[in-house]
Amino acid sequence: MGLNIALDGPSGAGKSTIAKLAAKKMGFVYVDTGALYRSIAYNALTKGVDLDDAQAVTASLDGLDLKLTYIDGAQAVLANGENVSDKIRTPEVSMGASKVSAIPAVREFLLDTQRNIARENDIIMDGRDIGTVVLPDAQVKLFLTASAEERANRRFKELQEKGDPSTYEEVLADINQRDYNDTHREIAPLKQAEDAQVIDSTSMTIDEVVDAICKAAEQSDGSKKKSDDERQLKREERRNREIMPIHPISKTRKINPLRQAFYSGFRPLVRFIFKCHFNMVFEGVENIPTDGGNIFASNHRSYGDPVFIALMTRVPISYMAKEELFKHNIFFTALIKAFGAFPVVRGSGDTKVIDTSIEKLESGRNLVIFPEGTRSKDGKLGKGKNGVALIATVAQTKVVPVGINFEGEKLSRKKKIVVRYGKPIDPKELGINDASTGSIKKIKKIIMEEISSLVY
Ligand code: DC
Repeated sequence: MGLNIALDGPSGAGKSTIAKLAAKKMGFVYVDTGALYRSIAYNALTKGVDLDDAQAVTASLDGLDLKLTYIDGAQAVLANGENVSDKIRTPEVSMGASKVSAIPAVREFLLDTQRNIARENDIIMDGRDIGTVVLPDAQVKLFLTASAEERANRRFKELQEKGDPSTYEEVLADINQRDYNDTHREIAPLKQAEDAQVIDSTSMTIDEVVDAICKAAEQSDGSKKKSDDERQLKREERRNREIMPIHPISKTRKINPLRQAFYSGFRPLVRFIFKCHFNMVFEGVENIPTDGGNIFASNHRSYGDPVFIALMTRVPISYMAKEELFKHNIFFTALIKAFGAFPVVRGSGDTKVIDTSIEKLESGRNLVIFPEGTRSKDGKLGKGKNGVALIATVAQTKVVPVGINFEGEKLSRKKKIVVRYGKPIDPKELGINDASTGSIKKIKKIIMEEISSLVY
């Protein structure tokens, strides 16, 4: 489960404005559950259903497929594939949403949609019953409120700007009425969860409220573990998801026969040299696929790692190397390029590296990736980044976990190096066929666990 922030509170407390800003700041997904109730009302209205007729509204749910998606970072609702995001913002639909949200079958219908998105993502979800009913296990529960007078004041100003003739007294009466309806309805009434932290925004600025939410998230255990780096990756991943559908590699292209012949002849020679220089042991070589287009995901101990891994693969490899390595000197650059290195600019959010990786796999090469992103000096496996899982998922290709082991920090002559190859992990066999955050997380976890089991 991702980090879930449940944000409940009465109408007009500014939940959506605040939640949107906080989500952007933290790289979370903002889930506006009101939009789902609005979409049900819109769907029923377009079918001519009387919204006061609970049975007819319930029947209108039959065959209705509601999906939340994100377009340019903003939430959109698809009702049977149609983007209804703008159409649900009319006064008629607002009133309709209020009616349908009191129907038990409607609330039940939306539970899975809301829970599924929370299971797979770091989210901030706003609504009325999120902390109490939808996500009772959310790590952070917030109840955002403000005095009825202050909420009426804010709403009154908004309406005035739009040229609406309502008086302040009318707006206040409306707020009081909605508060009463929301808190007194029979099903899932607006109620503060017992373990919710109350934020009273009456005399707070928007920025202050956003900061309070981010602070509450930081203080929760789950969030503390997430570095800015990881959040950046999540943001990238979300961008990628919009522009990067699954693109299974064809596995039909073979390496140029000349290159392959050269590699096949050259490899035993290099292996011989390495075996003379180090005390090399290879384990699990039977796990190495005989074809190309596979990913080798390994822990990272030394600059020799790509070569150690390649010594036993029958097909030439490519590997990502940090951009700085290409700036050392021309001989070193030529050498690592000859061994299949291509540059990656770390933490840049550059999606080109994903495209290049897929191209390399598509060309029939194997691809070596070090998910930790940096070398480990003490041999302990660090935290994995998402790139490897994303590439494997998009390319729908196997990942061979690799563990490289030697004592101490530095390599030296005659040192024992044990390279262990684990059983390939196949996204297809795991039923992973989309690049959602949930899929990426799942496969990354498996890859890192497998590498960890190969590292001593
Ligand atoms: O937040 P909003 O105005 O878009 O919500 C539309 C309606 O849906 C509103 O009348 C309250 C209701 N709602 C609800 O009952 N439970 C939720 N979790 C979200 C909204």
